Amino acid sequence: LPELIINLEKIRFNTEKIVKMTKDRGIQLFAVTKAFCGMPEVAEKMIEGGAYGLADSRIENLKKLMHLKVPKMLLRIPMISEAELTVTVSDISLNSEINTIKMLDKAAGKQKKIHKIILMIDLGDLREGILPHQLNETIRIILGLDHIMLEGIGTNLTCYGGILPTVNNLSYLVKLSQEVETKFGLKLNVISGGNSSSLYLIENNEMPKEINQLRIGEAIIFGRETAFGKQLDGLFSDVCILSAEVIELKTKGSVPIGTVGMNAFGKKPFFKDLGLIKRGILAIGEQDVSFENLVPIDAGIKLLGASSDHLIADFSKSEKNYAMGDKVEFMLNYKSLLQSCSSNYVKKTPI
Ligand SMILES: Cc1ncc(COP(=O)(O)O)c(C=O)c1O
Repeated sequence: LPELIINLEKIRFNTEKIVKMTKDRGIQLFAVTKAFCGMPEVAEKMIEGGAYGLADSRIENLKKLMHLKVPKMLLRIPMISEAELTVTVSDISLNSEINTIKMLDKAAGKQKKIHKIILMIDLGDLREGILPHQLNETIRIILGLDHIMLEGIGTNLTCYGGILPTVNNLSYLVKLSQEVETKFGLKLNVISGGNSSSLYLIENNEMPKEINQLRIGEAIIFGRETAFGKQLDGLFSDVCILSAEVIELKTKGSVPIGTVGMNAFGKKPFFKDLGLIKRGILAIGEQDVSFENLVPIDAGIKLLGASSDHLIADFSKSEKNYAMGDKVEFMLNYKSLLQSCSSNYVKKTPI
């Protein structure tokens, strides 16, 4: 099987570094486990690294973490059909729909629990969140619910619309929270200021001091902030490596022979004639991971294309003499990590 190797010590180390960046400023860090499909070994290392809590977008993943005694957060707005499960597996969820919040209230009552929510506000990224003018009315209704605790407000940016967190939009979030506190005479525990794209504001010393929670995945996994893709000082970028085995190696032409029809995915392919090349086939394919999101660690290997189960590469420029059974290793990006971790055909090996 192709193998996804996850270096647990590097997860712990990267988490610890980010906790150091955030804790001094009174920011609680929820470490995001979704790229690892909620793998408990990874979550444990995030906790060892000092994460305050764990967050995931999927109930199925949170179910795997129930034995871990830290606060757990559901990141994706809950489905009404999963309201009961949301209350069972998470202590806190991000929300933007009042009817769903009412269902969570009902479920929490049934389970004799108080479920915490963070009310999400859309500051322009156009994914989840109520609009600022709906804030007071929404909060008025939430405060009338017996089994829901309004833990705070939050936002998510740089996910759909690519909008950056800035001093301006995060200060606006702070201002909204202060207005809510004054109007309703309450104290909000949390202002949740985003994901790995918010970290650059800390580095630049621009993070509004009232922001006291971040939900961080990618920065722990790849050691980089995601507003500009800058590597964070001293963090590992190679926590996860994917490897696949060579199953054929032959010198063949670079242009297919015959009448061109369609490839495995219904596209008409185009080829440049590079003469004879050393072609290798790896036992991994589009059913596991999109090859465009893989980067061979051996820079002499060039990926040419893939069908469902075969990845075809040009080995001509590699200095290594590969043989059948050898492994080719890849660096991953967020998408290829998500895909390979989700594939049943990829063996996961925490080391
Ligand atoms: C609501 C929410 N917050 C935080 C995150 C974490 O984002 P990142 O991995 O960029 O830190 C995600 C996505 O995983 C998310 O959907």
